[in-house]
Amino acid sequence: MPLVPLKQVLDEAIKGNYGVGAYNVNNMEQIQGIMRAASETKSPVIIQASRGALKYTNMAYIKYLAAAAVEDNPDIPIVLHLDHGNSLETCKLAIELGFTSVMIDGSLKEDSKTPTNFEENVAVTTEVVNYAHKLGVSVEGELGTLGGIEDGVGSGAVKLTDPDEAARFIKLTGVDALALAIGTSHGAYKFKAKPTLALDIINKVVEKIPGVPLVMHGSSSVPKELIEVINKYGGKLEKTMGVPIESIQEAIKRGIRKINVDTDGRLAMTGAVRKHLSEHLDVFDPRAYFGAAREAVYQIVKGKMIDFGTSGHAGDYKPMTLEDMKTAYQ
Ligand code: G3H
Ligand code: 13P
Ligand code: ZN
Repeated sequence: MPLVPLKQVLDEAIKGNYGVGAYNVNNMEQIQGIMRAASETKSPVIIQASRGALKYTNMAYIKYLAAAAVEDNPDIPIVLHLDHGNSLETCKLAIELGFTSVMIDGSLKEDSKTPTNFEENVAVTTEVVNYAHKLGVSVEGELGTLGGIEDGVGSGAVKLTDPDEAARFIKLTGVDALALAIGTSHGAYKFKAKPTLALDIINKVVEKIPGVPLVMHGSSSVPKELIEVINKYGGKLEKTMGVPIESIQEAIKRGIRKINVDTDGRLAMTGAVRKHLSEHLDVFDPRAYFGAAREAVYQIVKGKMIDFGTSGHAGDYKPMTLEDMKTAYQ
């Protein structure tokens, strides 16, 4: 089957009350590890590339690696999604490459640093929706800015999503999915202790606008064991905590459908490479340690596909094409 639109995959996740992981990719081993996990667990999957990933892969490589994933896994619905697009131009670029879904992160200006106001966010998001929907491509928006909450106290940088604004935002822009800020943050250093996420925001948004899939960024769990492997074999990562799987499962019950994971894959690969090279001092064949990294990605992603409830759902529906979506949007 060709790459499928995000909208269909998330609408189906609403029907089945499960979550779908969106895994960041930059190279062949990550894609192969994720696709092996999807194939074995029969899970639909979202593979997503950031602007950094587009640059790293010189764009053509990500396009053809995704095509290889499709060819190799004809029974798995695969979405190719742009993560944190910063402008209409970047979204256009991804769509030209064949992405079936784009995120326009209008919560920040084009520099990806300065927060925007509500009106600016609505303006850029609407522009992208108008462009993408004509081509059948799905759009994810974001409202609120990510940050950490520890013991219920927000850090300075957090702007949690206001549910009333979220409802207005969805109506004004027509986005297919909305990323909420509920207290998570990107990267390995999220929390110092078990976090309390603002999960009630999810219920409030679902109450106001049922049927719109919600997205949780910064969802890596940062497993202690992965940090320990990295540090055992020469790494120097500080003690940290991620988002516990029980919190993600609770978020899914309440209406989160897309769960963004990058850091856990990075940690898994780094630990595997460090371990392999430390234990095999004579090795200089990259297939040995990149193979170990691929295996580690497979293991961590397989666990998430089971934990998020994605497993077993690959064959639930007949995949839609972008042509089908063009008609649906009209
Ligand atoms: O949300 C950001 C993702 O973790 C991508 O990170 O820009 O380093 O590729 P990156
Ligand atoms: P993590 O850093 O928690 O993996 O989050 C990734 C993410 O949100 C990508 O958009
Ligand atoms: Zn993100």
